[in-house]
Amino acid sequence: MVILHIISSNIDKEATQLMLKKCLFPVAGYGTRFLPATKSMPKEMMPVVDKPLIQYAVEEAMNAGVADMGFVTGRTKRAIEDHFDINYELEKEIAGSGKEQRLSSIRELMSACTFNYTRQHEMKGLGHAILTGRSLVGDNPFGVVLADDLCINPEGPGVLAQMAALFNQFRCTIVAVEEVPEDEIHKYGVIAGEAISDNIIRVTDMVEKPAKEDAPSNLAVIGRYILTPDIFDILEQTPPGKNGEVQITDAILTQAQQGCVLAYRFKGNRFDCGSVPGFIDATNYVYQNLFKG
Ligand code: G1P
Repeated sequence: MVILHIISSNIDKEATQLMLKKCLFPVAGYGTRFLPATKSMPKEMMPVVDKPLIQYAVEEAMNAGVADMGFVTGRTKRAIEDHFDINYELEKEIAGSGKEQRLSSIRELMSACTFNYTRQHEMKGLGHAILTGRSLVGDNPFGVVLADDLCINPEGPGVLAQMAALFNQFRCTIVAVEEVPEDEIHKYGVIAGEAISDNIIRVTDMVEKPAKEDAPSNLAVIGRYILTPDIFDILEQTPPGKNGEVQITDAILTQAQQGCVLAYRFKGNRFDCGSVPGFIDATNYVYQNLFKG
């Protein structure tokens, strides 16, 4: 009996460790495309209608079952920490005025999730940012959400939730991809691979921001990843790549060569809120389809 109990509790422990419970949000970048707006305000705090980009990102993770939110942050990003905390003065001021309901979405997040922060001291690329988040993640699989890419699926689960369901089935690193026009391919990590089904591709190649002539396909990685924790040891050994930065794309290619990485064509709309036109499109979409006034 005792042995059985030990075995079953080990299985339970393994199953829990394999579920997606943690998510990293790399938020140390400058947001130069939105200057002067982002001179002293984090780009992740730019509001799409009435909610900052980072809150959409954290809500997407919470809706995927994640409760442990880790931020790789930097100087000038304190507003993000304040956003996920109580503002006593404001709350006292608006108590009983009917305006408190405007804080209900953030309150819900704060009661359901924990928030941890670590600082990236130098900007050495997305791979370096993710490696900086190692202490927040430990030896667990984790999501990565880039708040610049706002993803909305009006018809069902969010993109990270779709990926988490796939992760429960395949237990390997998963990247979200979508087709992009040829003249935009140079802005993304681009994959090549073998189709397993309509929406799932086994990755065989991955290139960071290729020229359109060198792109292995038109399938671009967007800012949603589920990574297995072996990525950290790989990142430690990954030399700087494109633009002299440590690229997560290069580390994921190593994982693909050593084992299995899947690319997933997600359901829903993605807005590139790191660009002005994408940000405007997102604002119009949210205002017309989701905003309740
Ligand atoms: C990063 C990644 C790139 C990915 C993109 C998605 O690039 O390096 O592979 O396609 O995010 O948004 P960034 O946009 O940070 O330059």
